[in-house]
Amino acid sequence: MNKQSYADVRKKVERLSSLPTIPPVATKILKLIGSENISLNKVTEFISRDQALSARVLKIINSPVYGFPGRISSISQAVMLIGIGALKGMLLGISMFDMMHKTMMGLWEHSIGTAVAAKAIATKVGMKEIEDVSVAGLIHDIGKVALGICYPELYKNVIIAVGEKKIYIVEAEENIIGANHAEAGSWLARKWRFPLSLVNSIEYHHNPSARHSSMTIAIVHLSDTIIKMMGFGFSGDPFAHRIERIAWDTLALTGEDLKGIFIEIEEAILSQETSIF
Ligand SMILES: [Fe+2]
Ligand SMILES: [Fe+2]
Repeated sequence: MNKQSYADVRKKVERLSSLPTIPPVATKILKLIGSENISLNKVTEFISRDQALSARVLKIINSPVYGFPGRISSISQAVMLIGIGALKGMLLGISMFDMMHKTMMGLWEHSIGTAVAAKAIATKVGMKEIEDVSVAGLIHDIGKVALGICYPELYKNVIIAVGEKKIYIVEAEENIIGANHAEAGSWLARKWRFPLSLVNSIEYHHNPSARHSSMTIAIVHLSDTIIKMMGFGFSGDPFAHRIERIAWDTLALTGEDLKGIFIEIEEAILSQETSIF
């Protein structure tokens, strides 16, 4: 298969919810996420009906990604605590878990790590919607999964090209497929009516200066890079990206703040089991 046109890649990625390679539970989750009038009750009911899904939701909500004090033991409590926007993102992360592993070994760990880092930074800068920022970290690279599912052969070539030519994965995706994972992820997030801050943080996590930067974009950009530098998981990139000036300016972190953030991330990651599922 050869490189596709940008418009063709977009069309194919946006049709992702109906691909046969997606496991049935993920298909149901995607349908639920995409429905217009989604209520908390409906989501609680949906998750509670599926034991494996309930166990995954409870495990992730009790992990350092969220870090609520005390143990959360019921789905309704979990749903109330994180709210509908963050819940949709979390379900997307969960539904993509198996496919993340298939797309790229270590991508799940990279995503969890970025979520943990995003939470630490969001807390330090005093943001209110910490769960939303955490979720933005969890699913920032969801476009890699989308491209991997839509173009499995080409995506293998992307990973090979990154290794051989030592280029960033965004560049290899553009050269070989015709669009990059940040674009692909944002098309999905838009199609699934995710909150705009989530769509933007997926779209601009590699180039926050392309848009008048928001806190969430800056946090995901920084978290992604910190986790790569710490060597946790695998994002596909051979090197960590340069942190753009606009992210530093937006966050205005001091050296002391950064030190605290690094310690917190390291402790959270170390306290975690090897796999969250
Ligand atoms: Fe990325
Ligand atoms: Fe990433």
